[in-house]
Amino acid sequence: MDFDLVIKNGTIVTAVNTFTADIGINGETIAAVGQGLAGARVLEAAGKLVTPGAVDIHVHLQMPIGNVVSTDDFYTGTVAAAFGGTTTIIDFVETQPDETMAAAIAARRALADPRVVVDYGLHMTITPADMGKLAQVPAAFAAGCTTFKLYMAYGHRLDDGQLLRALTAVRHVGGLPVVHAENWDVILTLIADNLAHGRTTPHWHPRSRPALLEAEATGRIIDLAVFVGVPIHIFHVSCGAAAARIAAARERGWPVTGETCPQYLFLTQDVYDRPGDEGALPVCSPPIRESREQDALWAALSRGDLQLITTDHCPFTRAEKAANLADYSRIPGGVPSIEMRFAAIYSQGVRSGLLTPSQWVDLCCTAPARLAGLEKKGHIAPGYDADLVIFDPDTPFTLTAQSLHETANWTPYEGLTLHGRVQTTIVRGQIVVTDGELQAAAGYGRYCHRQQRKPQP
Ligand code: URP
Ligand code: ZN
Ligand code: ZN
Repeated sequence: MDFDLVIKNGTIVTAVNTFTADIGINGETIAAVGQGLAGARVLEAAGKLVTPGAVDIHVHLQMPIGNVVSTDDFYTGTVAAAFGGTTTIIDFVETQPDETMAAAIAARRALADPRVVVDYGLHMTITPADMGKLAQVPAAFAAGCTTFKLYMAYGHRLDDGQLLRALTAVRHVGGLPVVHAENWDVILTLIADNLAHGRTTPHWHPRSRPALLEAEATGRIIDLAVFVGVPIHIFHVSCGAAAARIAAARERGWPVTGETCPQYLFLTQDVYDRPGDEGALPVCSPPIRESREQDALWAALSRGDLQLITTDHCPFTRAEKAANLADYSRIPGGVPSIEMRFAAIYSQGVRSGLLTPSQWVDLCCTAPARLAGLEKKGHIAPGYDADLVIFDPDTPFTLTAQSLHETANWTPYEGLTLHGRVQTTIVRGQIVVTDGELQAAAGYGRYCHRQQRKPQP
């Protein structure tokens, strides 16, 4: 029997093993993995790695923060994702004051559905203003938002009592809370002290958000989750001490997971001392930290103490970043990473021997899909969505703002040379990107209506 599409002779890398075989695809689905498969269309992949499509469960597209909106919209952001080998993203939704959670999801979908070129899901954000809406959590869950974002920082920050209520509501539906863990009271106090003493430049940004207190907040939310009896996922871990809190909880058998992001693995806090507005560009929270933290994060990934690599892609323009140079605490936080993640982790992680190829795939594809309840994504086997990447492991590729498809027009990784490059990205059997060409139209991507999560280790 001929398949619709066959990827031939590739070195298939999954989260468990690496082997040479063909992949047969019918329609949107992987139909067979084996030898000598024939297809109406054939992509030759000898000498290339073939992986599941990468899954990025932490991105902020066209996300309003104060009076600015993150620069990539659902089209440009998902195009950049596709060029980087990412076939599914999870973005965020939050309610307006008089809006129900279900209505907010419908409105966000109306924005995204006609624009996305890869598949996507949504996390429902629960803010202090939503405390009266917790009875709507089942409706959000039924609408496919099975993960709920809780902030311990910013204006959206929940106090411990509110966290307790939100965690309880999420537990009742079998959902997963995903958390930004920092100690907001300490941060506000340190910022106030710095500004009062004229310490206003981005140099002071990491110095007002101490690693030790990120770890404290991580430990606190884990303890609250254990008390409530709900699993928990910790977003954007930036330091070894926070990773250690996650590892310690896992050691005790609690269903706790953690992720880190490229900015914490590739940059160090001296980026904030770059001259002029260059120092403002990498402002993000938690902040980029010292090189010893970077080493600790790579070691945590290698040991399995952190389970996911996401991006927290949330870029703003140079002008938006530079508008608040007189007060670092007002610089909109977030950096672009959506396009470089998969190749960068291969280049720096696998080629250096810090990670095995299977760890790379697990961290960037399989574990994120499983955690987020994307049951047909993140793995190569019959029955899974034909979301695949053909990856050239040898070609060097230098990251520049110009060569990327992100729209911020700057990248914190300018000039970084990676070894290994995404050649082809396939989403549900359709080639979306190949050899530097976009081949899918806006709206090809589809909303992932998530249901029950698979139990976590
Ligand atoms: O500074 C950051 N990380 N901005 C994006 C929003 C968040 O905190 O995840
Ligand atoms: Zn965050
Ligand atoms: Zn984020």
